[in-house]
Amino acid sequence: MTPGYMAGKAVLVTGAAGGIGAAVVRRFRSEGARVAVADRDVTGIDAEAHLPGDLLDPAYADALPGAAYDALGSLDIVVNYAGVITRGSVTSTTDADWALSLGVNVEAPFRVCRSAIPIMAKAGGGAIVNVSSCWGVRPGPNHAVYCMTKAAIASLTQCMGMDHAHQGIRINAVCPNEVNTPMLRTGFANRGFDPDTAVAELGRTVPLGRIAEPEDIADVVFFLASDAARYMCGSLVEVNGGKPVG
Ligand SMILES: NC(=O)c1ccc[n+]([C@@H]2O[C@H](COP(=O)([O-])OP(=O)(O)OC[C@H]3O[C@@H](n4cnc5c(N)ncnc54)[C@H](O)[C@@H]3O)[C@@H](O)[C@H]2O)c1
Repeated sequence: MTPGYMAGKAVLVTGAAGGIGAAVVRRFRSEGARVAVADRDVTGIDAEAHLPGDLLDPAYADALPGAAYDALGSLDIVVNYAGVITRGSVTSTTDADWALSLGVNVEAPFRVCRSAIPIMAKAGGGAIVNVSSCWGVRPGPNHAVYCMTKAAIASLTQCMGMDHAHQGIRINAVCPNEVNTPMLRTGFANRGFDPDTAVAELGRTVPLGRIAEPEDIADVVFFLASDAARYMCGSLVEVNGGKPVG
């Protein structure tokens, strides 16, 4: 892809302060896109528009695509990259874990897509990229509700990809395996492991020899949003270094 490939495109990225979301923002801006960043705190993020807020607030999530459109003057691409991970089996899942997981990982992207699709349809099309997980397409141990939320957004993506293709809107999802981000590293630290050592050990279990860096995932998000993926609708793209789950 030539430099400036995304010149003039208007992009909304949620989870923009997160490990992968920040890499997604940098990738789009490096290709000339104008980016509106959404997260609870977007202080210090280089972007064309800043839209801080809590995605658990339905009014904020509903209004986000319109706010991005107003700030950027158009809206071509939405990347729903905010997410939370709660651990444990069903029997150790609290009501709060349930509400948080469903709220951030499923309800928020549902609300953002529901508001973004009519805006994009009116403009003749667009692209949405959601984040599922390898645990959204196959089960994983000891993260029952997290896996279920990732399966839910995978299914929603497949259905929306089918339902809105006729409007010129392509909706796809990435399904990463382990990525070297605060989400993963904090999990190790919380369980008493040194994150650097744990990440290196985990890397040895991946056929490619290392776990993913945020940029490895951001490149695939960028591809799915670009015209290079113009015939992809409702796809779930696993990005796993050769290490599938299960
Ligand atoms: N890191 C991995 O190994 C991995 C693997 C597969 C899938 N994923 C998925 O990628 C996504 C991002 O993961 P990450 O590793 O970059 O995590 P991260 O924790 O670094 O980033 C997540 C971002 O989402 C934001 N967010 C969470 N709740 C929010 C809320 N209520 N309102 C607004 N923003 C909120 C956080 O502030 C944070 O900036 C998640 O959906 C995760 O499930 C991550």
